Amino acid sequence: MATILDAKGLNKSFGAVTAAKDIHVAVEADSIVGLIGSNGAGKTTFINMVTGYLKPDTGSIVFNGRDITALRPRNITRLGICRSFQIPQLFNSMTVGENLLVGVGIVAGTGGGWAAAGATASSPAAVVDTMLDRFGLGHVRDRQAGLLPEGTRKLLDIAMAMVVQPRILLLDEPTSGVSADEKFTLMDMVMAAVRESRVTVLFVEHDMEIVERYTQRILAFYEGRIIADGVPSHVLADPEVRRYVIGEHVPAAEGTAGHA
Ligand SMILES: Nc1ncnc2c1ncn2[C@@H]1O[C@H](COP(=O)(O)OP(=O)(O)OP(=O)(O)O)[C@@H](O)[C@H]1O
Ligand SMILES: [Mg+2]
Repeated sequence: MATILDAKGLNKSFGAVTAAKDIHVAVEADSIVGLIGSNGAGKTTFINMVTGYLKPDTGSIVFNGRDITALRPRNITRLGICRSFQIPQLFNSMTVGENLLVGVGIVAGTGGGWAAAGATASSPAAVVDTMLDRFGLGHVRDRQAGLLPEGTRKLLDIAMAMVVQPRILLLDEPTSGVSADEKFTLMDMVMAAVRESRVTVLFVEHDMEIVERYTQRILAFYEGRIIADGVPSHVLADPEVRRYVIGEHVPAAEGTAGHA
């Protein structure tokens, strides 16, 4: 399997806070990776560095063999790395269809990603139709984005990120704010859409049932470090992960540091 993303020795501090400490991660193409960790563990910081929103203090990020560490977010997007945010970034007064159309327009306007990512030359309206269909949003096409339930807003936000046909999709808490019984429906829809597009996905998630079900690999963050990396069964059984991420009371071998 080919490595599509290679983060090497990333470090990032904000004053006294270490948000990333010696992060080494090589991600295989077409894999689904979950990022877990308590609040402030460094998950969003990692996504921000990969997408160019934050520059690491040291270290490098290689995408598809190319060093992207110094690139701006829009240039990274153009190369094929897209993201959604912890809070959906939508045009609330516009309809779902209009939001997607704007997304397509922005991409077409840059003269980049959409075509560069290998999309066939389809009209903006056709791309919108495909996304509405793929994410099951056809029935809310003419509804105002600001008035939709959170789960639908999350789906739209992810559909917006997929408009450019990225190679890598980074999702920051796709199920946050979504009710427990809606989470699986949402993730089923996202994963089905993702499978059709053959995109590598990294997503942040606090619900361990979700990460266990939908990922092939989990990275567990704690105080800016990756404390466990591997298949879900292995990572979720790790004593440090159970103590610092899941918040279980696990007798510590050496001292008993609390989790955040
Ligand atoms: N732009 C910033 N300026 C200052 N400190 C920051 C900045 N971004 C992140 N931090 C700090 O870095 C640490 C890691 O934050 P990060 O947002 O990566 O955590 P997280 O794992 O995404 O947490 P959460 O689950 O709450 O979203 C935190 O202590 C946070 O306060
Ligand atoms: Mg975060």
